[in-house]
Amino acid sequence: MQQKIIILDFGSQTTQLIGRRVRELDTFCEILPYNKFPVDDPSVIGVILSGSPFSVHDPEAFQVDLSQFVGRVPVLGICYGAQYIAHHGGGRVEKTDSREYGRAHLINIKGDDRLLRGIDNDAQVWMSHGDSITAIPADCHVIASTADVHFAAYASDTAPLWAVQFHPEVMHSLCGMQLLRNFVIDICGSRQQWSAASFVETTVESLKQQLGQDRVILGLSGGVDSSVCAVLLNRAIGDRLTCIFVDHGMLRKDEFSKVMEAYQGLGLNVVGVDASEKFFSDLAGVTEPEQKRKIIGRDFVEVFNAEAAKITDARWLAQGTIYPDRIESLNITGKVIKSHHNVGGLPKDMHLQLCEPLQWLFKDEVRRVGRQLGMPERLIKRHPFPGPGLAVRILGDITRERVRVLQEADDIYIEAMLNYVCPDGEVLYDKVWQAGAILLADVRSVGVMGDERTYEHPVALRAVTSTDAMTADWAHLPYDFMARVSNDIINKVKGVNRVCYDISSKPPATIEWE
Ligand code: XMP
Repeated sequence: MQQKIIILDFGSQTTQLIGRRVRELDTFCEILPYNKFPVDDPSVIGVILSGSPFSVHDPEAFQVDLSQFVGRVPVLGICYGAQYIAHHGGGRVEKTDSREYGRAHLINIKGDDRLLRGIDNDAQVWMSHGDSITAIPADCHVIASTADVHFAAYASDTAPLWAVQFHPEVMHSLCGMQLLRNFVIDICGSRQQWSAASFVETTVESLKQQLGQDRVILGLSGGVDSSVCAVLLNRAIGDRLTCIFVDHGMLRKDEFSKVMEAYQGLGLNVVGVDASEKFFSDLAGVTEPEQKRKIIGRDFVEVFNAEAAKITDARWLAQGTIYPDRIESLNITGKVIKSHHNVGGLPKDMHLQLCEPLQWLFKDEVRRVGRQLGMPERLIKRHPFPGPGLAVRILGDITRERVRVLQEADDIYIEAMLNYVCPDGEVLYDKVWQAGAILLADVRSVGVMGDERTYEHPVALRAVTSTDAMTADWAHLPYDFMARVSNDIINKVKGVNRVCYDISSKPPATIEWE
């Protein structure tokens, strides 16, 4: 039986991060809403309670029945989790005037405590809380403090129960990984059997069982998730997997042919569909961003379904859905929102069943699985790219000529990024989460080229750093890099005479301009 840690989500922004850290310890975990603990699941080896935007004193604060797991399996409460355990165990949590936020250092560490083994006094942790624990339950004892927080960490005398006021999952808690390792491996007894290699082996086996001799259809986008999904399925059922790759005409320069080549090199059975004519004609004259997206979404489903319908004996539709797409996230009123991207839409009259082999993986795990499958590094490290492609990077209506101009500028930018090695030896492209060029197609400005006056369009460059696309900061690209790219674009791309750099963060801006 596969061991698992359950992470109960009380709405903290770092809950997913706890999950990723546990996975880094080669241990499977599930993130569930605070009130959905699987009481009868014998594979649960431990429970972690997350932080929360609430105070335990808020009337709408999320409540959980601790007796479902305390005393049965090891429990670790983090931040709100620690306060909740104190509050409901006879301790005291008090509202404080100032939020404690930032770095702190552990002192008075109780050396023989199993959770803190290997962590020394002065270890840095990250605090982010409003309330303070001012008394812990009678059957608990303090195991570490900081200069400002006496009950920074405590443990129970009677049950395998620990609680920490700080956030071990965030990078700034320098001893956080050691603490989580102590909990997951030493205390919960994880056998560390969750790895890319074991995932590939067990998934290929179970896909063979699940699919038998059936035929499967998969929509490829050129992105990491659908590509890894395809290679995995190909391992399991070979040519009985048919992949469909739709070219809407707004991909990057030469992307369709390059990606088709890469897929064929991987031995995939791919049908490439050039549907650009349809997309361009349906988009003619459309400038409003949401309308563009709607048209592209609708056309995509139409083209995909028409192609899929030709594979008359298909029984399954595979999708590269990953775990963050499926986690039931909590909104502030405690309602569960299920976010599930059903890209392309199911061809309903074909009665296909859904197959989602990556549904338990975080993005970094998808990449590890891709490497395990021997996929080329460039495909694995590809930046995310929006489904509607360059259509949402042309501000104004879309024509073939405008797409061509943007493709040229974008290509110069991205190629330069792939070829720029930073002083630390890392390639600039790999430091950036996502980069692209935007054509301000309805704006013109004056310039000079040779002896001629020009009156042409600006291109904006965008590059962001991020870990999850939920928030993003503009990337601090080297000046010499920007200078060269700007020069090259203006000299080589006819129709562009000015290059700007976008320095907006998300939020308040978004990554894409439309
Ligand atoms: P924003 O612009 O909202 O983008 O900050 C967040 C991430 O999502 C990508 N994106 C899309 N991906 N279809 C997609 O498949 C879309 O319509 C779409 N719009 C934005 C964007 O590129 C970024 O990675």
